[in-house]
Amino acid sequence: MVSVNLAERSYNVHVERGASKRVDRYLPEGAKPTAVFVITDDNVAPLYGGHAAGAFEAAGLPVFTEVIPAGESEKTLATVERLYHAMLAAPLDRKSLVVAVGGGVVGDIAGFAAATYMRGIPIVQVPTTIVAQVDSSLGGKTGVDMPEGKNLVGAFHQPLAVVTDPETLSTLPRREISAGLAEVVKHGVILDAAYFERLEALGEELLAVEPDTMHNVVLRSVEIKADVVSRDEREGGLRAILNFGHTVAHAVETLTGFTTYLHGEAVSIGMAAAANVAEVMGLCDGSVGERISALCEALALPLRAPNISAAEVIEAFGRDKKTVGGVPRFVLPREIGKVEIGVRVDEGALREGLVETGFSA
Ligand SMILES: NC(=O)c1ccc[n+]([C@@H]2O[C@H](COP(=O)([O-])OP(=O)(O)OC[C@H]3O[C@@H](n4cnc5c(N)ncnc54)[C@H](O)[C@@H]3O)[C@@H](O)[C@H]2O)c1
Ligand SMILES: [Zn+2]
Repeated sequence: MVSVNLAERSYNVHVERGASKRVDRYLPEGAKPTAVFVITDDNVAPLYGGHAAGAFEAAGLPVFTEVIPAGESEKTLATVERLYHAMLAAPLDRKSLVVAVGGGVVGDIAGFAAATYMRGIPIVQVPTTIVAQVDSSLGGKTGVDMPEGKNLVGAFHQPLAVVTDPETLSTLPRREISAGLAEVVKHGVILDAAYFERLEALGEELLAVEPDTMHNVVLRSVEIKADVVSRDEREGGLRAILNFGHTVAHAVETLTGFTTYLHGEAVSIGMAAAANVAEVMGLCDGSVGERISALCEALALPLRAPNISAAEVIEAFGRDKKTVGGVPRFVLPREIGKVEIGVRVDEGALREGLVETGFSA
């Protein structure tokens, strides 16, 4: 069990094989929901939606289940509004519990619905993708996309508990496995060299998502993210460390219309680029980039985006919502396990690092 320490909003993350079959047992002491509202998507519903619903039914609670179509395109206010109507029809009151069973899309939508329904009701996250287990279920960020851009409307709403079952990863499509592992690699680079070495030793074995292996990997990544979030709930400083590889990743995703690369694939390219930029600036030696690239390659992740130019990437930075006054601040590696945040990079070094990464000149 890992604790996210946020004063009265603290909660526990239970990483355990088979946990998704007994979600009801992980509610904090004294939590007595009047009803349970399971939100899942149409891929996950037949696999794990019933487990969560069944556990609460067996515990004697009224259970409602709402299944949304899978996919990022459903992460909209329209979906949230449909959920509100179903929640009102159930009806849920302020002591009812939302249970999100699925990947980051379900978690973000359900989280936002729970954050806003009757000004906020509790939610338990049951993440079933690697991305959701090591990233989106932790930290309380919830929200939806707008036609103008991703994640532009949302709220902070910390869960009551997170119930993480590594066994659910066995049904993930191969590309989703690789993409999720990019965030795992990121955790090693930013804060834990020994963890990175364990990941290197496992290499492509990770792609088999063997439950005991994934238990250990997910647990360490959860510890790392929980620690960062506990120290910086609202991204005042340290939490920016999690953006390693993400400045270039966001540019790549935007420039390809969010259709070519999964987020984690873009993060893989972004981490390679950040290492190259750091090397050009003399912040680290070439071995850092080589080790990141070798590990990502073993995990079947892309390392370059050949159809995009360095100039296009640099131009896209100016439009990034995380850019301060047009100048992106980078998270760059010093060595494996140690990064620097808020680094100013001049355009020459940036261009050189990007071209080195395979963006056309
Ligand atoms: N709130 C945060 O802090 C945060 C952090 C990172 C990402 N996100 C968000 O998370 C979303 C991406 O999450 P994701 O990568 O989990 O994508 P996703 O939720 O779309 O899931 C990926 C696919 O896998 C399917 N799936 C989920 N679990 C499965 C399982 N166990 N077996 C088989 N199929 C399964 C889903 O139906 C979907 O088709 C994005 O919207 C992103 O913005 C949020
Ligand atoms: Zn990410």
